[in-house]
Amino acid sequence: MKTIWITGASTGIGEALARNLLKQGHRVLVSARTQEKLQALTNEYEHCIALPLDVTDEAAVAATIDKIEQDYGLIDWLVANAGICEYIDLPSMPVDVFRRTFEVNFFSIVDLTERALPLLNKSNAPRLVYVSSSAQFLPLPRAQAYSSSKAALSHFGEVMAADLANTPIKVCTVHPGFVETPLTDKNDFQMPMRITAEKAADIMAKGITKGRPVINFPRLFIGILKLINALPIRIRRKIIGKISRFQGDF
Ligand SMILES: NC(=O)c1ccc[n+]([C@@H]2O[C@H](COP(=O)([O-])OP(=O)(O)OC[C@H]3O[C@@H](n4cnc5c(N)ncnc54)[C@H](OP(=O)(O)O)[C@@H]3O)[C@@H](O)[C@H]2O)c1
Repeated sequence: MKTIWITGASTGIGEALARNLLKQGHRVLVSARTQEKLQALTNEYEHCIALPLDVTDEAAVAATIDKIEQDYGLIDWLVANAGICEYIDLPSMPVDVFRRTFEVNFFSIVDLTERALPLLNKSNAPRLVYVSSSAQFLPLPRAQAYSSSKAALSHFGEVMAADLANTPIKVCTVHPGFVETPLTDKNDFQMPMRITAEKAADIMAKGITKGRPVINFPRLFIGILKLINALPIRIRRKIIGKISRFQGDF
């Protein structure tokens, strides 16, 4: 039985991953701000423990890590999954959206990483998992805040992997395409190849168990994004520009 801590586990991918790992018999510590949703999970599964938390609250993160250390002594897997997505509609570009997005999607994960490393180091098969996004592979319209935060996170993950190369801690960066969750339910555009959160969780659980350095899915979708990104920049911009909604109304 592994001790696995998942942030953003009250809904969507985090919740589905928690259920998947609980069904496999692991102890899963679930965090998010909404206590009632976490409670529903703990009522259902014996080895599920709710640790309600706002990941941007450094004092709360520190207290949660202390509690985990006291109660379990280590963390086998940390899955930094909590994230938010807000789109930008030019000509408005509110800097507070960028600050909010980076606080949750990037800075909180830096903080979490520093505090969790000593507990991960006590595991005999530790995994440090960052849930980034396929959005970081291709710059798409309206995603200035979201995809920039995820590009920063993916890069951070690779640098962490370089620094942890001489330790047993394996870093895994996850790049999901579109997944059916409350985050994408509010999107008003087409989401090709969208998969269920259960399918996403299954792919992630298998990949993390195998110690994969990156987990990209759906593969065809990611392949298409990478292909477009590899085109000469003028052609790439022409293709992507076709889906821009902004008509220059400043
Ligand atoms: N769905 C997709 O298509 C997709 C694609 C690529 C990447 N992703 C990434 O996958 C991750 C999960 O997304 P999802 O689609 O499952 O979204 P979701 O259903 O909206 O789940 C987001 C989770 O993060 C939690 N959260 C948000 N802000 C938080 C905070 N400040 N402190 C603690 N928890 C917080 C939410 O719970 P509370 O609101 O209760 O705090 C919720 O549990 C995100 O990092 C997202 O960027 C999703």
